[in-house]
Amino acid sequence: MLPPSTLYHYSHSYAASSLKSFWFFIPTTLALLTSLFILFYIYYTSIIFTIHHQHYNLQPTFQFKSPSPTLHPNRSEFINTFKLDGYELQSQHGLASQASSKESNPVGNAITYGSQKFDVFHDKDIFVEDYKEMNRSFKIYVYPHKKDDPFANVLLPMKSEPSGNYASESYFKKALMKSHFITKDPTEADLFFMPFSIASLRHDRRIGVGGIKDFIRDYVENINRNYPYWNRTGGADHFYVACHSVGRSAMDKAADVKFNAIQVVCSSSYFLSGYITHKDACLPQIWPRNDNPSNLVSSIRKKLAFFAGAVNSPLRKNVVETWKNDSDIFVHHGRLKTPYADELLGSKFCLHVKGYEVNTARIGDSLYYGCVPVIIADYYDLPFVDVLNWKSFSVVVTALDIPFLKKILIGMVSSGEYLKLKKNVLKVREHFQWHSPPIDFDVFCMVMYELWLRRSSIPILLEAS
Ligand SMILES: *[C@@H]1O[C@H](CO)[C@@H](O)[C@H](O)[C@H]1NC(C)=O
Ligand SMILES: *[C@@H]1O[C@H](CO)[C@@H](O)[C@H](O)[C@H]1NC(C)=O
Ligand SMILES: *[C@@H]1O[C@H](CO)[C@@H](O)[C@H](O)[C@H]1NC(C)=O
Ligand SMILES: *[C@@H]1O[C@H](CO)[C@@H](O)[C@H](O)[C@H]1NC(C)=O
Repeated sequence: MLPPSTLYHYSHSYAASSLKSFWFFIPTTLALLTSLFILFYIYYTSIIFTIHHQHYNLQPTFQFKSPSPTLHPNRSEFINTFKLDGYELQSQHGLASQASSKESNPVGNAITYGSQKFDVFHDKDIFVEDYKEMNRSFKIYVYPHKKDDPFANVLLPMKSEPSGNYASESYFKKALMKSHFITKDPTEADLFFMPFSIASLRHDRRIGVGGIKDFIRDYVENINRNYPYWNRTGGADHFYVACHSVGRSAMDKAADVKFNAIQVVCSSSYFLSGYITHKDACLPQIWPRNDNPSNLVSSIRKKLAFFAGAVNSPLRKNVVETWKNDSDIFVHHGRLKTPYADELLGSKFCLHVKGYEVNTARIGDSLYYGCVPVIIADYYDLPFVDVLNWKSFSVVVTALDIPFLKKILIGMVSSGEYLKLKKNVLKVREHFQWHSPPIDFDVFCMVMYELWLRRSSIPILLEAS
């Protein structure tokens, strides 16, 4: 936007240069100035609106994607019969209570417009219904590889227990291969799984970081040559799963995978050229953990907010610079002196600040320890955003909000909003945990559901070919 002084200067020199036809140009000049004024006015008021939006309506408004256009289920059938572990059906979601609450609570009927602020799901009824259909009928064909394949370590599920930062990748493959979603008959498959592991390729000395792109290109060429499935859709009914951050450039020599296939990845930022939002999906980065912390609910959370991590991005630098001396928001860089778990258990809010790598490990950590995540990372697909209403259990702010963080969080505690968020954190935790074998609605099943949502356009492509 031009500052007013530039505008003035511009119109001034414009008028001076056309002095001869000055009288002739007066109407034109006036019209030009009026349009500029209107443009400026629109721009200015939209700034006010945006700032207002950022400060008073902190969470982004994620749109609910209707899960399956092909499904016409009978809603009343499951409503009274199905209950998620630990959940009560929200009263405004039951058809019966919906009818009776029409007068007293008109907002409660706004189901078609998306979720209420503190509902954990955008629309739980549709989700549960569609999930059951997915669980019953979804079929995946996995490209088969022999045990003596020289790259069996990359292509077959790991024998050892998944571990470390990228555990999600191997948990998924292990769980899928043993699940009832697998079919040996490719003609009945909804989707085709390419089982290479980016993390294993990264650690394989024959491949390494430098060789991943070539490996993937060759892999796709191979399945293209040996099977008819890739060519039918240009790869649109194929998917892979990767958590390692080198995965973001792994498809650089396999454009079809990048542009057509479904990429289920931990690095789900809109700003990564390899990630295509809505087509691809976020795989949450979850460390392997067995039991729940014993003091999950009872823990007294004295600290307002906590962050620890390397200062490796401008955003983190900003957070650390702004809050390093604060007595309510604890930011640490470098080594923590206290156990990480104690910090997460002792804080009301836990900051997830986008670092050099884009990932969601801290979100998984916060939820596990019952700490309300505060997400400061502009524009990325949060895990299961098609299903879960993130504003009901987290605080999503933009980089511009960093200086106001304390005010925002204290406001949430004093208004009671914090307690609702925390209650919902305890509800959504189950969707962020791995189990072997998987259990309904855990992270594996949620990822399967995200894949199911993305399968629907494929038969149309098939007909067209
Ligand atoms: C839906 O299911 C209920 C209970 O099983 C049944 O009474 C009702 O007629 C069904 N409605 C439709 C449209 O099939
Ligand atoms: C999902 O499918 C499995 C295996 O068929 C079954 O045990 C489980 O009850 C199903 N879950 C739901 C919610 O339908
Ligand atoms: C798929 O298409 C590619 C090139 O378009 C071709 O080289 C390949 O042979 C095709 N594969 C099959 C199995 O028809
Ligand atoms: C934090 O404290 C240090 C030393 O006490 C001081 O130099 C610095 O300016 C303070 N920073 C902020 C952001 O208040």
